[in-house]
Amino acid sequence: MNEEVSTTRWDDIDAAADTAAFQSYLDRVTGLAATQAIKERSRHLLRSTAGDRLLDVGCGNGDDTRALGDSVGATASVVGVDNSVAMIEEARNRTDVSAATFIPADAHALSFDTDTFDGVRADRVLQHLADPRAAFGELVRVTRSSGRVVVTEPDWGSLVVTAPGIDSEVTRSILDPKWACVRHGRVGRRLRGRMADAGLTDVELDTGVLAFTDMETAESVLGLAGRVETVREHAPDGNPDARKWYEALKQADANDAFFASLTLFTVAGTKP
Ligand SMILES: C[S@@+](CC[C@H](N)C(=O)[O-])C[C@H]1O[C@@H](n2cnc3c(N)ncnc32)[C@H](O)[C@@H]1O
Repeated sequence: MNEEVSTTRWDDIDAAADTAAFQSYLDRVTGLAATQAIKERSRHLLRSTAGDRLLDVGCGNGDDTRALGDSVGATASVVGVDNSVAMIEEARNRTDVSAATFIPADAHALSFDTDTFDGVRADRVLQHLADPRAAFGELVRVTRSSGRVVVTEPDWGSLVVTAPGIDSEVTRSILDPKWACVRHGRVGRRLRGRMADAGLTDVELDTGVLAFTDMETAESVLGLAGRVETVREHAPDGNPDARKWYEALKQADANDAFFASLTLFTVAGTKP
């Protein structure tokens, strides 16, 4: 079920006029030191060892898939899947053929046998899907018994955007996760429960925070201007103060008083 207003179509990138814009966005996010730290910890939670078969679902540009390959060596089988052919092509172009295999596939219906992989990960994918629960079930299905499932998602309810003097009521209304431009803005907080529902054991939880002290970087990752326009278009009252709020942020940024942050949760569990 769609519970938020989704204005970016991360679940159908190939239909976009400019697929390269999605690839550049991923490079920007991956380039942040905090993202690198989150990704490194998520790889650690996979507990992979040499020769393991690993799967990266919603692999995007394939950078994480390649990094998985580095951790398990040349004898391993590392596969990245994505439903975007543009992403799969980009991932293949970036990758030495022996390092990983990239295959177009839908996370809701993975084309692998049950119990195939020693470790399966998905990073910032479930939030965009029509049915995150079904996709999570697929991650678990293709993982072998005693294998690890590791999922990272932001929780857009954790988004902080602040500056001295901005109206807290307007801030609250604009930061409501329903304007997050993803389908499931609160998926991060639900990951631990999903692990329990699926009967996974040895569950570990890691949190990471992307913190922004300049508006340009925050804008390039959080899309605040787009969110303001979404609010203006969809809020019942058109939120007449939304643009003023954004201008106040810019003013604060000019005075070096802007701050924003977003928390990402990584949850890992073992298939019984
Ligand atoms: C925000 S990106 C994250 C990419 C990558 N995991 C990373 O951390 O950089 C979400 C990815 O999920 C892919 N995706 C969206 N819907 C999908 C689906 N139904 N099945 C497989 N991949 C999907 C998108 O094409 C995109 O590459």
